[in-house]
Order: sequence, then structure tokens, then C-alpha cells
Amino acid sequence: MNELNGRLTEYAEEFNEILRNFSSRLDCEPKILADSLKYSLEAGGKRIRPSMMFAAGDLLKIKRENLAQFALALELIHTYSLIHDDLPEMDNDDFRRGKPSNHKVFGAGNAVLAGDGLLNTAYSILIGECRKGDNYITAAQFICDSAGVYGMIAGQSADLLHETDGEINEEILGFIYKNKTAKMLTAPLVVPAILADGKYYSQLKLFGTNFGCLFQLTDDILDVEGNFSTLGKTVGKDKQEGKCTAVKLFGLEGAKLRADILADKCLKILNGIDEDTTFFEQLVLYTLSRKN
Ligand code: IPE
Ligand code: IPE
Ligand code: MG
Ligand code: MG
Ligand code: MG
Repeated sequence: MNELNGRLTEYAEEFNEILRNFSSRLDCEPKILADSLKYSLEAGGKRIRPSMMFAAGDLLKIKRENLAQFALALELIHTYSLIHDDLPEMDNDDFRRGKPSNHKVFGAGNAVLAGDGLLNTAYSILIGECRKGDNYITAAQFICDSAGVYGMIAGQSADLLHETDGEINEEILGFIYKNKTAKMLTAPLVVPAILADGKYYSQLKLFGTNFGCLFQLTDDILDVEGNFSTLGKTVGKDKQEGKCTAVKLFGLEGAKLRADILADKCLKILNGIDEDTTFFEQLVLYTLSRKN
């Protein structure tokens, strides 16, 4: 697991350098707009999506310079989704990445605009990458679709809908997990596969879907068992808001059992990849026992 920690730290640091470079050039006006974007981007975060993209790129021998802007766009979209997710009208969360949520600092209106701004900027970055060739267009479109109304936004919509109507079953939970979380964790694996002319595309896509569901399952478990200082966000919120989670559907032990089963499935999928998948195997095991 130390090897994983080392690689995660290296990838995250490499990504943070790309992000710092981006942030230092961000000078939109009024200043509060630039400040609110930078506030959430620089608040930290595990950078798991860019790290997964770089690891998949290493596995498929894709040059980092060809992935950097895709990783940046993806993390911008992810950060926007968190800013909006925390808004009073969504999950009403006061803390994110160990700091007050964007709307607690800048107000709800500015937080909506910060999210919009990150999303628009991400699309501008993606369109810039499209100049490099057909594979880049396909990869950019994959990210857009993963984040869009057949992806993350659909999952967030279902999350809200079933918080309101209280309906919960395995099918609904599966829809929410696959869309709100797994799509944005599949994109970082599929983008390098597309740039590698489709090598291991289906295996990486299937792994991303299952890993994404495992990631959300453990997020739901951490909402019950985690603690604020390591998690950087308020615990116990899912129950308070009446969220459709694995813990609500199966109970805490049932949710943990399902996490073990999903982790096994992830490892089996990795067996179908004839390259060194140690990083991803360890990532699965780390996710099972993660504390943040
Ligand atoms: C949080 O994502 C939202 C979920 C999909 C569960 P992360 O746990 O990756 O959050 P950061 O980026 O590290 O803050
Ligand atoms: C959010 O899921 C997934 C997103 C698309 C942002 P959660 O609402 O459970 O994420 P946290 O717990 O607030 O990070
Ligand atoms: Mg939410
Ligand atoms: Mg939330
Ligand atoms: Mg959560």
C-alpha cells in the first residue's frame, strides 16, 4: 500500500502543478469571480480522477502532455459538481475539502456562478484539445457525456428526486451510483484508452463503472462512520437529508458486504488487462478502507 501512497502523492503533486499554472493565469473580473473559482480549486481534494487518468496513461504509454488538459478539465468539472452539490437547495453542506463550502464564503449566487464558470472553462479547454485530432475529439466528447444529462447530472437529479419522494430500491440506487459518481470516475480511464486507439477500452470502462460504484458506496459508509477532521465534510448528512444510500437500503453491515463484493469484481476485471495493474489493484483495496 505504501507503493500506492507514493504514486498517488506523485500523481497528485504533478496535477497540482498543472492546476497552479492554470490558476495563476485566471484573472477574470470582477475579482470575486476569480477568487471564488480559485478558492474551491485550491482547497485541496484527493485529485483521484487526475491520478487515475495519469496511471491509466502510464499503463497505456500515453504521454503526459497529451493527458494534462483532459485531467484539468475533468477536475474543473468535478469541482463545479461539488460546489453545486453543497448548495442549500441541494445537499446543504457547510464544509467541503476541510473548509467552509463555496456558498458559505461567497454566497449562493456567486457559488452558482463559480460552478458555471468552472464548467464553461472546462469545455473551452476540451475544445482546445480537439484541434489535436480525431481521438481527441472522441475523448473530449466522452468527458462531456460523462458529466452531462446522461451522466453525472442525471445521477444528481435522481439523487434529489428520491430524497424528496423517499423511494428506494436496488435499481434506483444503482442508477444514482452509476451516474452521479461512476461516470466521472470512468472518464479518466477511458480517455487514455481512446488516445491509445481503443486499447483495453472495454475492460477499463467496466472497471471504472464498478470502481465508481465502490467509491460512492464507501462515501456513503464514511458519511456514517467517518469523522469530520479526516473527511473534511460534515458527517451524518445523508440520513438528515433522507438520501437514497446503500446504508439506508442495506444497513451498515450490508453496505460493507456489498463493498467487499464490488471490490472482488473490480479485481477480477483487472485480471483481464495484460499489463501491470498493481496501482489499480491497490487503489481498490485502499478504497475499501479509506478514511477520506
Ligand atoms: C466526492 O468526491 C464526491 C463523490 C463522488 C463521492 P471525492 O471524494 O473525490 O472528493 P475530493 O475531490 O477528494 O474532494
Ligand atoms: C456527490 O455525492 C456526487 C457528486 C456528483 C458531486 P455526495 O453528495 O454523496 O458527495 P459528498 O458526500 O457531498 O461529497
Ligand atoms: Mg449529493
Ligand atoms: Mg453531497
Ligand atoms: Mg456523500
